[in-house]
Amino acid sequence: MKQLSESDTLPANGTSNSVKMQGSKPMTTVSDAIRGRHSVRAFLPNEVPEAALREVFELAQWAPSNCNVQPWFPHVVSGPRCEALRHKLSAAGRVPENMQFDWPADGNHGDHEGNQKLRQHAAAARLYGAMGVARHDLVARQDAMLRNYAFFDAPHAVFIFMARPFDWRGITDCGIYAQTLMLAMWEKGIATCAQGALAAHPHIVREYLGVPKEHRLLLGISFGYEDKAAIVNSVEVGREQLHHAVQFHR
Ligand SMILES: Cc1cc2nc3c(=O)[nH]c(=O)nc-3n(C[C@H](O)[C@H](O)[C@H](O)COP(=O)(O)O)c2cc1C
Repeated sequence: MKQLSESDTLPANGTSNSVKMQGSKPMTTVSDAIRGRHSVRAFLPNEVPEAALREVFELAQWAPSNCNVQPWFPHVVSGPRCEALRHKLSAAGRVPENMQFDWPADGNHGDHEGNQKLRQHAAAARLYGAMGVARHDLVARQDAMLRNYAFFDAPHAVFIFMARPFDWRGITDCGIYAQTLMLAMWEKGIATCAQGALAAHPHIVREYLGVPKEHRLLLGISFGYEDKAAIVNSVEVGREQLHHAVQFHR
């Protein structure tokens, strides 16, 4: 990766090398994008045009980060690279014992507590219900899980790696980056699914894409155009009511 000089990162005009705002009439509001975005788990095969890809990734660069360090290192796969990684991760996913996240994955083993646990179960029930997968059908559940590694047939995926130090501030920055990217995509009609599952075999992704070993994989996002006919995409998991979620102090 090219080492940037200070003049690369802080141009003379104090804003950016690229243009922050173009035009004045947004196609959709931020509220529309926040409420409209949902996780999509069935995609059409059509690729997103290269120009649109570059536009949304440029937009996501505007995500905030602590001291503006921008610790995210997104690696986007399309075409043959996407196919190859889909097959490699799908093969690895068949041996769940070999999962080896770069981060502590306690929650993956059902360690959520209280309301978080209730919400996890409710979301899983809706999702598996829509797919016709019974709670105790372990084979069908495993098959559904494997769809993650196949990027739900999306024509693209992005793997979000993070630079050292691997601390909580940086992880927060990368989470904010991920949502900024997903909203930018949603505005352009590009659907997404954030997936912790795509971080289960970081060494495979690092090796195949030539990612430095000191960069750690936080999550992947499958993306492309939504298959609106797929029932799985009609699942709505809802959110906690405001008065249960937020404490207002004065
Ligand atoms: C960090 C993160 C990791 C996620 N991992 C997965 C995953 O591995 N597989 C999956 O199908 N969905 C995954 N999701 C999607 C969540 O299940 C989804 O965002 C949540 O249920 C809310 O639904 P919505 O995105 O449709 O609003 C993940 C979301 C986030 C933010």
